Amino acid sequence: MKTRKRIIVAITGASGAVYARRLVSCLVDADVDVHLIVSTWGKRLLHDELGITRIDAESLLGRGSDRLTVHPHQDVGDALASGSFLIDAMIICPCSSNTLGEIASGVGNALVTRAAAVTLKEARRLVVVPREMPLSAIDLRNMLKLSEAGAIICPANPGFYMMPETIDDLVDFVVGKVLDLVGVAHQLNTRWTGCA
Ligand SMILES: Cc1cc2nc3c(=O)[nH]c(=O)nc-3n(C[C@H](O)[C@H](O)[C@H](O)COP(=O)(O)O)c2cc1C
Repeated sequence: MKTRKRIIVAITGASGAVYARRLVSCLVDADVDVHLIVSTWGKRLLHDELGITRIDAESLLGRGSDRLTVHPHQDVGDALASGSFLIDAMIICPCSSNTLGEIASGVGNALVTRAAAVTLKEARRLVVVPREMPLSAIDLRNMLKLSEAGAIICPANPGFYMMPETIDDLVDFVVGKVLDLVGVAHQLNTRWTGCA
């Protein structure tokens, strides 16, 4: 029986690759088994925004890691496509409007959307981090559909009340929220303690 937390992370073709990289790094540092899927357009965004060309621990984290396993997005016969693969949560970060719409309409013809559909049907935690603005009525309806199906919609909207000074501070704000939602401890500076 598994003891370590096991979390699927999906990176899709929305802007915000830096969120994904930081999220994976924090999960690995927390000794979580991370099962990573990157969509075709997610690969493009990793390349365009971070210069990453290979999807592995060395490229993403700058070091090797036994905690990170990469799964092929095109293979819906992969282990992650089955509810028998026990996970604690799945996080889609960043989530494109395309992937959001596919999951909301029940499409599961690639591993990201299939794994998300499985996560919902098994009543496991699905955290979706959409990155788009402004939002059309279609995006909003798709988010509502997913929320009603049990997913948590956690937009990539950093708050400013922690007085961020760097881009890393803004990224950590969003990543810290996501880690809270999947029950992974962290030391990121995200906790408002009230006005002193
Ligand atoms: C440079 C670039 C930036 C993009 N940014 C976004 C974005 O922020 N949000 C979004 O929903 N789609 C964005 N897209 C469009 C998606 O990549 C596109 O809809 C794609 O089909 C998504 O595929 P996927 O959901 O399988 O990853 C962007 C595309 C490119 C090339």
